[in-house]
Amino acid sequence: MKKFEEKTFNIPALTGISAGNIEEHLKLYSGYVKHANLIIEKIAELTATPESSEQNAYAINEMQRRFGFEFDGMRNHEYYFGHLEGGAQTLADGSVLKEAIEAEWGSFDAWLARFKALALTRGIGWAFLYYDPTTKRLVNAWVDEQHFGHLTGLAPILTLDVWEHSFVADYKPSGKKAYVEDFFKNLNWSTVEKNFSDASAR
Ligand SMILES: [Fe+2]
Repeated sequence: MKKFEEKTFNIPALTGISAGNIEEHLKLYSGYVKHANLIIEKIAELTATPESSEQNAYAINEMQRRFGFEFDGMRNHEYYFGHLEGGAQTLADGSVLKEAIEAEWGSFDAWLARFKALALTRGIGWAFLYYDPTTKRLVNAWVDEQHFGHLTGLAPILTLDVWEHSFVADYKPSGKKAYVEDFFKNLNWSTVEKNFSDASAR
């Protein structure tokens, strides 16, 4: 059976976020890949025959419910770590993405303030900037845990992990705001632009 493959990331020294924390964080990513694969494997075992599918329905359904958590845990982190590769790069004035952000929120700074505030939503989860191919608009959204709140059919453009494991080793538990600020100091905007151009070209 085809398995999800764990990706590797070439992350340089970052502002504020230590190499040790990235190393630990990557272990958690690895766990999501492992468990996404494990669920698919176990469901295949439990559905080997029509009879076994019926007999194991409760266990299968619970694993199926769990799959969104593990899969999105894997995929969200691939976007996140990807943003930290290649060194910090700003978003150039006049770029297609910057103009799309300005068209939606009035100014880049207005969007940035909104997104940073979104990232400070209480609880564990993620701040997302999506591209909606149906309306050809950008949309900010909060995702609880790894998977509650994803917007159907929209492509992630920018993802920011604000689970406590992403920052408490380097910042105090109350230091989420400083972590969010540092994330933007480390962000390679060219990765966001690529996600946007891929999504808008579909
Ligand atoms: Fe994480």
